[in-house]
Amino acid sequence: MLVVYFSSATGNTHRFVTKLGLPSARIPLHRNDPPLVVDEPYVLVCPTYGGGASISGNEPRPVPGQVIRFLNNEHNRSLIRAVVSSGNTNFGTDYGKAGDVIAAKTGVPYVYRFELLGTDEDVRILRAGLLDNAEKLGLNRNPHDDAAGEAGVDTRG
Ligand SMILES: Cc1cc2nc3c(=O)[nH]c(=O)nc-3n(C[C@H](O)[C@H](O)[C@H](O)COP(=O)(O)O)c2cc1C
Repeated sequence: MLVVYFSSATGNTHRFVTKLGLPSARIPLHRNDPPLVVDEPYVLVCPTYGGGASISGNEPRPVPGQVIRFLNNEHNRSLIRAVVSSGNTNFGTDYGKAGDVIAAKTGVPYVYRFELLGTDEDVRILRAGLLDNAEKLGLNRNPHDDAAGEAGVDTRG
C-alpha cells in the first residue's frame, strides 16, 4: 500500500497522512526539488486549492500545480488507483473539489474527503477502508501495512 500526497507549507495533509500510518511518499513542494517518481500502485491524497472559484467566478484551478506536474508523468499517472481530497467546508460547493477533477481526469474513484487535518474518525475510516478494499482498488497490501497501525509511521515522507 502506498499513499502519495501533496501538502503545502501549512502541512495539514502531511499531518493527516502521518496519522494514517501507511507507507507514504510526498510530492515535492518546490520546483527545484527532485521530482517524485513512484513504482507501485498508490492512493493520492490531495488538498484543494481553487480558492472557491465557483462563487468568485474565477478560473477554477483546484488541483495544486505540483500535483498536476506529478500526474503529467505518464508512468506516475498509470499507477494511481484512487483519490482522496481535503479542503475546507467554508468553500461551499468547491469543498474538496480537487478530488472531483483528479477522478474525472484519471478515471479512478474519489473514495474519501476530509476537512483540514482530518479527525481521528477520518483516519480510522479511511485507513480501514483502504486496507479492507485494497484488492478491489488494485492497491498492493504489504505485511507491514497492518503493523504500522496507530503508530503513525511515515516511512518516506
Ligand atoms: C489559497 C487557498 C485556497 C483554498 N481553496 C480551497 C477550495 O477551493 N476548496 C476547499 O475545499 N479548500 C480550499 N482551501 C483549503 C485547503 O484545502 C486546506 O486548508 C488544506 O487542509 C490545506 O492542506 P495543506 O496544509 O496540506 O496544504 C484553500 C486554502 C488556501 C490557502
